[in-house]
Amino acid sequence: MKHLLSVTDLDAAAATALLDTADRLKQALLGREVRKLPTLRGRTVITMFYEDSTRTRVSFEVAGKWMSADTVNVSAKGSSVGKGESLRDTALTLAAMGADCVIVRHPASGAAHRLAAWADRDRAATGTDTCIVNAGDGTHEHPTQALLDAATLRDRLGSVAGRRIGIVGDVLHSRVARSNVFLLATLGADVVLVAPPTLLPVGVQQWPCRISHEIDAELSTLDAVMTLRVQAERMRGAFFPSAREYAIGYGLSDERAAALPQHAVVLHPGPMVRGMEIAPSVADSARSAILAQVRNGVHVRMAVLYHLLAGAPE
Ligand code: NCD
Repeated sequence: MKHLLSVTDLDAAAATALLDTADRLKQALLGREVRKLPTLRGRTVITMFYEDSTRTRVSFEVAGKWMSADTVNVSAKGSSVGKGESLRDTALTLAAMGADCVIVRHPASGAAHRLAAWADRDRAATGTDTCIVNAGDGTHEHPTQALLDAATLRDRLGSVAGRRIGIVGDVLHSRVARSNVFLLATLGADVVLVAPPTLLPVGVQQWPCRISHEIDAELSTLDAVMTLRVQAERMRGAFFPSAREYAIGYGLSDERAAALPQHAVVLHPGPMVRGMEIAPSVADSARSAILAQVRNGVHVRMAVLYHLLAGAPE
């Protein structure tokens, strides 16, 4: 694996290998007073975030630090991006400073792919070797989020294969939904997208999943339900009448959570808008794995850095 740009770069064996490495790293750190492995000592990992983030950015930084990499964070605000520097020049500058890995979040779909193409060209021309990780590009993909969701489902349900997972809400603007549909299908899950027609992207019929507009018709058959944030910052125009009507139509209320099977798990990638897509009582309930997702995120990102920078273990 040279870069991690899309979950479609991963077949079932490669995805499972990453999840297994994440499990091993988690075990290796369990109960340790000093959470530090020497694996990536001397390696430089740079996060480059052109969009707001709490968990993804911090999680990559913590993952790098727990493996002894030198981690540096660049955000668009406060960098030369504000002076008009292009994505390419910023990335080449970071590569010239010896970045072994650049982790990028950008509002443009495809930004990480562009960076990877430039990095490969630069590798041939200058001998520098920088791998690129997509930490969310526009409405396109967020591969490490899908991997940490799969890790959490494996923990909670014992397996992903054969499980029915519902992904509910603003699929149109969600890179999390797209990455999850493709990764979970690769891992053998049966995925159903539940959304109003206005919040589904063109071409969704070609995705490896089923589509439903009726949350209440799906709940009793789900092993897990993942609610998505309504991504208002990406919306140009009105996609539903009001927040209240959205919550009535698609929000995961107490009544809806009660209709899930006893063992079913509730996921949310965060940040949550409590009371809109999910009731606070459901987010805080025993079936919620939302904080487990955050914890697994660090181990999954350690695994990604490990496979990219040190090579996948045999
Ligand atoms: C998501 C994102 O940024 O795509 N957040 C995250 O990384 N955990 C989802 C969102 O912003 O709603």
